[in-house]
Amino acid sequence: MRERQRLYLWLLGITMLVIVTALLLFACGRGHMGGMGPMGGHRMGMMGGVPGDYGGRRSPLPPTAENLRTGSVLYRSHCAVCHGEQGRGDGPAAAGMNPRPADLRRALSMPMVRDDYLFRVISEGRQGNGGGMPGFGSVLDETARWQLVGYLRRL
Ligand code: HEC
Repeated sequence: MRERQRLYLWLLGITMLVIVTALLLFACGRGHMGGMGPMGGHRMGMMGGVPGDYGGRRSPLPPTAENLRTGSVLYRSHCAVCHGEQGRGDGPAAAGMNPRPADLRRALSMPMVRDDYLFRVISEGRQGNGGGMPGFGSVLDETARWQLVGYLRRL
């Protein structure tokens, strides 16, 4: 009889563990979905969780004058309208946006904002509550997107 009791206790323990794990996974999953604001995204990058083909990627481009110049031209034609000329999130289209375009200088000063995170945001955009940022994966080729990453680092 005692054997059986022990078995029940054991099964109960396992069941609890499974439930707690499921709840945790569920909670984290929700945190990673849209409408989470920039901090949520940073946390995702920090936990090594930049998903899909982007995780762990580093820029293949050296920060040559040529790459930076092209990055700057791309930035002004595709990004400044929202993020502002200086990257402070105050472009002409920023007013009335919710969430507001990120202050890129502040974002780039955070050590956990790595290449793969930036490349992913530029490629896929960010869907917040009120529209957010479009993805540029189908508009700009990989080289152009890496040139943008390089330029953001010099903002
Ligand atoms: C239509 C306006 C718009 C345009 C154009 C746009 N963005 Fe954004 N971007 C946003 C918004 C809004 C957010 C913040 C979304 C959020 O809080 O989830 C954002 C977030 C970001 C972030 C994440 C910052 C962080 O703190 O995690 C990066 C990096 C970024 N944008 C880079 C760019 C680059 C580079 C371009 C040009 C290729 C660009 N954006 C074009 C609106 C825009």
